[in-house]
Amino acid sequence: MERLYTAVARLEKELAVSAILLQDIASRFQEAMTEGLAGRSSSLKMLPSFIGSPTGQEQGQVIAVDFGGTNVRVLLVELAGTGRSRIAARRAFPLKDKLGHYDYTAVSASGPELFDFIAGKISEIVSDGGIYPLGYTFSFPCRQQGVDKAVLINWTKEIKTVGVEGRDVGQMLQAALENRGLERVRLQAVINDTTGTLLTGAYSDSATTIGAICGTGHNSCYLESCHPLTKRPMIINMESGNFDGVQQTKYDILLDQASEKPGAQRLEKMVSGQYLGELVRLIVGSLAADGHISSGSERLSVPYSLPTEDISAILGDTSPELEVVAAVAAARWGITGLKVSGYKAIQTIARLVAMRSARLVTATWAGILTKIDPGLVCQHTIAVDGALYEKMPGYSEQLANTMVEMFGDKAKQITIRLSKDGSGIGAAIAAATVYKGKYCNER
Ligand code: GLC
Repeated sequence: MERLYTAVARLEKELAVSAILLQDIASRFQEAMTEGLAGRSSSLKMLPSFIGSPTGQEQGQVIAVDFGGTNVRVLLVELAGTGRSRIAARRAFPLKDKLGHYDYTAVSASGPELFDFIAGKISEIVSDGGIYPLGYTFSFPCRQQGVDKAVLINWTKEIKTVGVEGRDVGQMLQAALENRGLERVRLQAVINDTTGTLLTGAYSDSATTIGAICGTGHNSCYLESCHPLTKRPMIINMESGNFDGVQQTKYDILLDQASEKPGAQRLEKMVSGQYLGELVRLIVGSLAADGHISSGSERLSVPYSLPTEDISAILGDTSPELEVVAAVAAARWGITGLKVSGYKAIQTIARLVAMRSARLVTATWAGILTKIDPGLVCQHTIAVDGALYEKMPGYSEQLANTMVEMFGDKAKQITIRLSKDGSGIGAAIAAATVYKGKYCNER
């Protein structure tokens, strides 16, 4: 029978992204961008945002709604106009109550109910009088028909609220505000969270040309210098989580087939926080099925029983006995009493899955950079937000190292930087770039 270390070595090969593969993925990604931009069939949606880069001079108090998943944030953002911003007030709330009192994400909830709930939270942070421009980050695939018109193509992230797909989510939020007598909160822009991240980066660093989320979901956008629609610079939301140019392993295929929408979001299912734990579970499950490690309880066969935070904990475990790995394996799957080599195998699997994610993401960014600046003659900043980038041990280093591996010395031209709270602050910047009125001290 194959020994444990032989099985782990085989997994190392299966999950490796070689230098040749990196280049290959980058050029496929670049081709998919060109096809999508020209309106031809492509796994990259290349959605226009109708927004270009900010000047850094945008000023005033703006309300921002950040609707990125089952948690929503409402912010009052103060833009100083010198590339600096401050969050003056914030409310964060789940759309699904833990105690089961409400769930606006379920099929039993309707669009108007969902948006009325959000409008209610906005009412808590606006004071009386005055006009508030509103920027709205809505991080789902949308057909953008104007800067403040975004039609939801389909829900992702397990949200099922009825009567929202195919409708203008900007108009739905504005209608909910008006029903509550909040006409003075005026929607200016609906954007994707990647666009928000890029805008926040670009507000203080004009070299920012790419915005990305490496968190529960994954997606990137970039600044197209001459958009075919307007012949002007415009940020394009690529919905790159849907990219299908990467070879799947058998574990990716298993995960995809058991997912809500098989075939969709193939890259996202290989790289984002929503799925990394599940990939680790499937691989550990295969080691257990082959008798390499004890299979613990039936919990190892429960889908999504390993949250991403646990992968971070596993990767951060430097103790000789791998105590944290052992604690996670026991708590999540009932796996106990392994030799250190068994826990080491689990840690190696987690590392392989996480580092593959970072390498694949870097390859897509390399594809974008080569498309917009083939000789890499300019400086580029990639603004990133999300828990994988911010918190997963070794993740951001792997992104940077892979850039060096791909571009050598020229990687000096590329800076990858955290754009903290980028999606929310970016909504405010987007609103301010659109609403050029004198909103700041009008009240
Ligand atoms: C999903 C959404 C995309 C979003 C990303 C990160 O991929 O489809 O719009 O940007 O998650 O939140």
